[in-house]
Amino acid sequence: MTRRAGRGRFVVLEGLDGAGTTTQSRLLGEALRAAGRAVHVTAEPSAGPAGALVRQVLQQRLGGGRGGGFDPHALALLFAADRLDHAAAEIAPRLAEGCDVVCDRYTLSSLAYQGLTTGDLAWVEAINGRAPAPDLTIFLRVRPGLALGRRQAAGTTPELYEVAAFQRRVARGYERALERLRRAGQRVEVLDGAAPAPRVAEQVAGLVARLRRR
Ligand code: TYD
Repeated sequence: MTRRAGRGRFVVLEGLDGAGTTTQSRLLGEALRAAGRAVHVTAEPSAGPAGALVRQVLQQRLGGGRGGGFDPHALALLFAADRLDHAAAEIAPRLAEGCDVVCDRYTLSSLAYQGLTTGDLAWVEAINGRAPAPDLTIFLRVRPGLALGRRQAAGTTPELYEVAAFQRRVARGYERALERLRRAGQRVEVLDGAAPAPRVAEQVAGLVARLRRR
């Protein structure tokens, strides 16, 4: 793999379930690689131990203690724990060795989703306060109806949050969360995620190309 001097760039793709974050993360990875960069594409929930727990809860294979539902605050902490572990074990070392890192979902997802499920956005922000800030977060904005249509077309089994009424609330949650990240001084860009995937990919690559290297 190509290595270069200096720290890599840390870019996050965000949006509703069905907004295209996974596709666009992959396409950005390919574009950066084609431009000769070392790049690592990753996702949250991560492949680490806390991420594995989160996935089981999302797939409704793991509940809370004594057979109850999983507590929303406990799940918010698990997402935050996964993020810190992912950042320490995988993201930071890659950036340090000069790799660009592309992450499918990060703190903005917790602000949007767990901000809603816990009703306490300030607390969710606080428990994520130690997660290293990305150089850029790109939000792919789509109408909840479009995202739902894409999820149905993909034919996957709906997970915990993949319910139409909840996704409409998440769409509003994202708008609040975007403001919050901006106020915290983070760099956030919004793109129209309804555009065809190659067009969105061009715009994503354009935003990343304009990012100054550290
Ligand atoms: P998703 O990217 O949809 O994973 P997959 O495509 O493999 O199913 O993410 C899983 C779900 O987790 C999605 O509904 C968003 C949610 N999520 C949160 O609620 N908070 C978070 O901090 C993260 C990272 C994801």
